[in-house]
Amino acid sequence: MKLTKTIITTSDGSKTIAIKEWNEHYHSTHGAIQESKHVYIDAGLNAIGNNISPVRILEFGFGTGLNALLTFQHAEQNNLPVEYHSIEAFPVDKNLIEQLDYPEKLDLPRTVFNKMHQTPFYENIKLTGNFSLYKIKQKFEDFHPKETYYNLVYFDVFGARVQPELWQPAILQKAYQALTKNGIFVTYAAKGQLKRDLKVLGFTIETLSGPPGKREMIRAVKI
Ligand SMILES: C[S@@+](CC[C@H](N)C(=O)[O-])C[C@H]1O[C@@H](n2cnc3c(N)ncnc32)[C@H](O)[C@@H]1O
Repeated sequence: MKLTKTIITTSDGSKTIAIKEWNEHYHSTHGAIQESKHVYIDAGLNAIGNNISPVRILEFGFGTGLNALLTFQHAEQNNLPVEYHSIEAFPVDKNLIEQLDYPEKLDLPRTVFNKMHQTPFYENIKLTGNFSLYKIKQKFEDFHPKETYYNLVYFDVFGARVQPELWQPAILQKAYQALTKNGIFVTYAAKGQLKRDLKVLGFTIETLSGPPGKREMIRAVKI
């Protein structure tokens, strides 16, 4: 199905992409930057121990690059080395990326954001001394992770309402395999079935308060 993508403004004033045919968005309409920061930076990156360097992150769904940009900002502000790997099968068109306002909203140079998008797939690019980016152009279904390599997984796929197949144990298991012992998995979702599936895989589950507009979110730790 051909998907129609348009830019919309969310409640915190930052933009995101809407998919008309699915009535779905790349981020929460209650605040794109707020949601990404709450789920992936505050509940994820901030929960990683100080003794880990570099922090190796695997993202499911590069999308607009907002999570990557927020992570870059955190790495720079905290002088924290980060290796950021991100999987994306359907990169966002350049004309939509140009309409996103994240660098301006986060007071970061547009050149950094552009470079993240222009970085070819399968090339390891050092954006600064602290932050390197490696993008993987693949469907999650076909992805085989580097096992026990990552400290943190950002599980940021579209909702189960529109892509239920991406929330199945077979995909979640890839995240589990990718993580080191004590590695952290974070996602904006909080469904009971997801918690049960993660538990069966070998995670311990924490239910945390969600970003604006969402009561709960999940943080899971590989034991
Ligand atoms: C919620 S968005 C990711 C948002 C992103 N993390 C950000 O910061 O903008 C989900 C992403 O998953 C990608 N995607 C959807 N189905 C996929 C699949 N089967 N394999 C790989 N990527 C997929 C979409 O193209 C989209 O970019």
